[in-house]
Amino acid sequence: MRLHIGFILIVLLAESSQSSEVDVVRKLAELDSKIAQLDAKIVQLERERTQDKAIIQALQKSNKHDHQQTKTIKTKKGHADMFPVTLKQSFRKRDNFFDGTAFTACQQAATSENVRTNQTVVFEHVITNVGSWYNPNNGEFTAPINGVFAFHVTLMTESNAAANFEIVIDGRRIDGMGTDASGMHEYRSTSELWLLQLNKGSKVWIRSASAGYRIHGNCHAMLSGFYIRT
Ligand SMILES: *[C@@H]1O[C@H](CO)[C@@H](O)[C@H](O)[C@H]1NC(C)=O
Repeated sequence: MRLHIGFILIVLLAESSQSSEVDVVRKLAELDSKIAQLDAKIVQLERERTQDKAIIQALQKSNKHDHQQTKTIKTKKGHADMFPVTLKQSFRKRDNFFDGTAFTACQQAATSENVRTNQTVVFEHVITNVGSWYNPNNGEFTAPINGVFAFHVTLMTESNAAANFEIVIDGRRIDGMGTDASGMHEYRSTSELWLLQLNKGSKVWIRSASAGYRIHGNCHAMLSGFYIRT
């Protein structure tokens, strides 16, 4: 760099034999200001590098936070430009973040005989239960937030038996479904899909619509549910 500047000086001095000394001084001043600009740029780059380091450290910390405190939640606003205030805010939001729900459970126990009126069908064998909003002990699903949820049910009865069911929200009948194998040597099943708009905390379950029914188990009676949208 110095050699280079020295060379320029010699060129400038050579030129000065033709041009005035004032010109040389002006050109030196121009060089000076260019060097000052480069200096400023280096300072700025150093500052940006320090900021980048801080962002990387914060992101590394936030990854640790993810592994320790939450399972599968990812930020949608983790953009580096928003660091650090919005990054901290998004952590706070994440603590209440709803990450969906999805479950499938079946009645694995063999046939339920003489099911009573209003008896809840308990699908006690859990296959999937993201968030554990379905309770396999009492057969009830609890809505984690306000929103639209899908429920799919398949129920089977055995030969010379029948069964009628209802889907209820907080005990209020929404719809019924039935299957009838009376006078037949057949197992018959029925299935329906419902999209239900639920309030946070509302409970949904399947119950028998009358007494004396028979439900075939062995996982041929199944209930599934999942969150669709707010
Ligand atoms: C079943 O539940 C309905 C409403 O929830 C009620 O009106 C009816 O009396 C109940 N029947 C029996 C036998 O418990």
